[in-house]
Amino acid sequence: MFTSTNPTDINEVIATVPESSATEILTVLRTAKKAQKGWAKLPAPTRGRIIANVGRLVENNKEILAKLITKEMGKVYSEALGEVQEVVDTCDFFLGEGRRLYGQTVPSEMQNKNLFTFRMPVGNVFVITAGNFPTAVPSWYIVPALLAGNTVVWKPSEFTPAVANALTEIFHAGGVPKDVLITVVADGAQTFAALDAGLKEGVINKVGFTGSTEVGRKIGAKTGEYIQSACLELGGKNPMVVMPDANIDLALDGALFAGFGTAGQRCTSLGTLWIHESIYDTVLAKFASLVENAAVGDPFKDVLFGPMISQKYLDNHLEHLKMIQPHHKVLGSSSTGRITASNPRKGFVGDPEKGVFAHPVIVAGITKADQLYSTETFGPLVTVGKFSTLDEAIELSNGHGYGLSSAIYTTDPQNVWRFREGISAGMVSINNSTSGAEAHLPFGGNGMSGNGSRQSGIWVLDQFTRWQSMNWDWSNKLQKAQMDLIEIKHDPKFMLNIK
Ligand code: UN1
Repeated sequence: MFTSTNPTDINEVIATVPESSATEILTVLRTAKKAQKGWAKLPAPTRGRIIANVGRLVENNKEILAKLITKEMGKVYSEALGEVQEVVDTCDFFLGEGRRLYGQTVPSEMQNKNLFTFRMPVGNVFVITAGNFPTAVPSWYIVPALLAGNTVVWKPSEFTPAVANALTEIFHAGGVPKDVLITVVADGAQTFAALDAGLKEGVINKVGFTGSTEVGRKIGAKTGEYIQSACLELGGKNPMVVMPDANIDLALDGALFAGFGTAGQRCTSLGTLWIHESIYDTVLAKFASLVENAAVGDPFKDVLFGPMISQKYLDNHLEHLKMIQPHHKVLGSSSTGRITASNPRKGFVGDPEKGVFAHPVIVAGITKADQLYSTETFGPLVTVGKFSTLDEAIELSNGHGYGLSSAIYTTDPQNVWRFREGISAGMVSINNSTSGAEAHLPFGGNGMSGNGSRQSGIWVLDQFTRWQSMNWDWSNKLQKAQMDLIEIKHDPKFMLNIK
């Protein structure tokens, strides 16, 4: 059994759900695989109408779902409402795709012959997601996968089973058959064993995974063994570059939200704030003061951030604190680590003893040689460093090998275009924070952040469909491509004779 608790009050149990073994997951994968052909036979516009129903139901249940998200994983309620809205937006986008899902007609090099392309579903999709976005990120996989005629087995985070079951119920209520979307809660080892067995048996045709780079690497290697490429959305060490000509207050608003929203537990969270040396001291002092004075605590109140998702995430954060070196300057709170009665945070909202809350931390003076430079911290910890030229800032922003989100604050268009061209991240924000991507632009990263797959918008369809090309020769004779060429009469030596 898995028990999820409220990270704001760890004595409050939110849900107790059965834990699936690898064998049980395999059975479920077979069931979904069996249902796939029937689901794919349903016309795409009909599947689109089902997605439309799901979107409306999510919208009608927005507050209930958001409350459950805040209770089960601790993000502030306004962010939880935004997350649920992202599911609605995703459904709204893809309901229309049911009436498009276009293929092409392509001219043939021969007469009396026509060429076409069709999008084909890949089959059964195994979706494995994390606890920080328990509805939005899963919907990025589930909605387009279903729309395109695939079945889905979803393994959500074991920290958010109540939210996962609630979302699954909504999909079923909207008209998705029970064997077309099946949710299983399991631990990492059982999931991986099922992944291996399912790939071997051919009941997994595509994997969608959002989580750490370390696990993504293993999933990528495993799917590669079976000639598959998973859709991987992995970690980030997202840079935000502040140029001397930037609107500083705007940049700091962005840094505060990106650094500490969701307690820094977004894959798009701010990693390092790179400040130009000419404004470094003043901008750092302003940032420190904003963080010192920000409200932390009960996520149902008006706070910058609430608790960590669970004790495991807090422990992870505490490990990262050990990477702070004597040459670093630590700012942002009166202390670091877990917030308790004996390790208090000024102005804390609620009772810190009841939950798993962490002090916000700014680690200033980061250099390329530091472990924290290249470590995704996934908690309320922002590293800050300085640079002297834009080229150096770009080099520092790319140097760790992650490439998910990035941002530059500047009023000079030259800086914008040079940054966009030089940054290796999949997503670039101009005068906007690294987090908060819209639900219909390609989302994904490069390098250690992903294998080039993109989610969201029309781009994700390439993950959940395969192109099938068809040629139809109606000439009633064998016409050979590349061999039966139509002769073109022309004069290759022709030159104009005009003086
Ligand atoms: C994630 O943390 O995995 O851009 C996704 C954002 C959100 C999604 C984050 N729309 O911050």
